[in-house]
Amino acid sequence: MPPFHHFECSRCNQDVPADTPQTICPQCAGSLYVRYDLRPLAGTVGRDAIAKAAAAVPWAGMWRYRSVLPEVQPVTLGEGWTPMLPSRRHPNVFLKEEGANPTGTFKARGLALAVTMAKHYGFRKLAVPSAGNAAGALAAYAAAAGIEAHIFMPRDVPFANYVEAVAYGANVTLVNGLISDCGRIVAERKEKEGWFDVSTLKEPFRVEGKKTMGYELVEQLGWEYPDAVFYPTGGGVGLIGMWKAFAELEELGWVRPGRKPRMIAIQSTGCAPVVRAFEQGADVSQMWQNAATFAAGLRVPKPYGDSIMLKILRESGGVALALSDAQILASLRDWARNEGIFLSPEGAAATAAYDDLLAAGFLKAEDRVVLFNTGAGLKYTDVTAEAMGLQRPYTAA
Ligand SMILES: Cc1ncc(COP(=O)(O)O)c(C=O)c1O
Ligand SMILES: [Zn+2]
Repeated sequence: MPPFHHFECSRCNQDVPADTPQTICPQCAGSLYVRYDLRPLAGTVGRDAIAKAAAAVPWAGMWRYRSVLPEVQPVTLGEGWTPMLPSRRHPNVFLKEEGANPTGTFKARGLALAVTMAKHYGFRKLAVPSAGNAAGALAAYAAAAGIEAHIFMPRDVPFANYVEAVAYGANVTLVNGLISDCGRIVAERKEKEGWFDVSTLKEPFRVEGKKTMGYELVEQLGWEYPDAVFYPTGGGVGLIGMWKAFAELEELGWVRPGRKPRMIAIQSTGCAPVVRAFEQGADVSQMWQNAATFAAGLRVPKPYGDSIMLKILRESGGVALALSDAQILASLRDWARNEGIFLSPEGAAATAAYDDLLAAGFLKAEDRVVLFNTGAGLKYTDVTAEAMGLQRPYTAA
């Protein structure tokens, strides 16, 4: 199946064969990367073919990068190639609007590819523990592929995540606990139930789908790196996927030579295991107790890919920082009123972090940065209304 060649363990670097489906490294349980022979694509001819091929079909979306993805028939709902919006106030700030994806979040990219591969391998039943949006995305793509989805998410997820998963016909279990508790249930039951587990970083193709964000932001900036990328971080799939994309872009010679962006991981002070580990100089995170934030996607108390993320943050000269829910809400309202963009709480954590790092002198106004709005604000009307003190019956503001 060229150009997909083999898997490589992110921890022990062992090669794992690609002819059968894989989960994590059989030796050390590290997450696996999808590896290709990229040599035939090196140079700008391969790069320039992307836009030409994409223009010839009605909507290529993230599949415009098919030449650097596994060669399979996609299960697609139109994910990817999202707008890169220049801020109206900050000349060097771009907002990557992932809320434009199917199911309203960037989770669509990873799950489009994970479900595509699951279909390719002939799986009939998929299971996922989720903070909410991965559940909605899995449910949608599984419905499109005619595969069963078994979803485990916290009882208090944003209402939209529950409604969409039910509407897509998934088997939904609401759990009295967090994503970590959901993960435990999936792990305990998967063998008996015959589920293939598509948990964050325990299945290689979610990272691979999300790497398209890295290709896309570089292409949308004229095949140049920005100075920094702000990424609201839970499990870290997007951060890890983008870093993989940057390495591939350099191997391919598709990006103008320059310094890789500083990667900025943003969490909430109500759940900040990566920030704490980063500040302590640790290589792994510790389980965060009593995680609570209205930025539901950031409620991941112990990410499986923590060590990979911490390495990337340090290697890139980046930083991890946490904002309070009050700061996140203030930035959400600021961007809604002044930019006309209704951010998800996770996206508003990124915009708040930009203000913070600018004020602290970590970044200068001349630095070109990309802030990820990982989801549409409209998926969060219940939790954001609660944070804003709005309730039915409506009263005029
Ligand atoms: C809207 C949103 N932003 C950010 C995240 C964190 O994503 P990742 O697991 O890639 O760090 C999530 C995860 O659920 C999310 O739903
Ligand atoms: Zn390994």
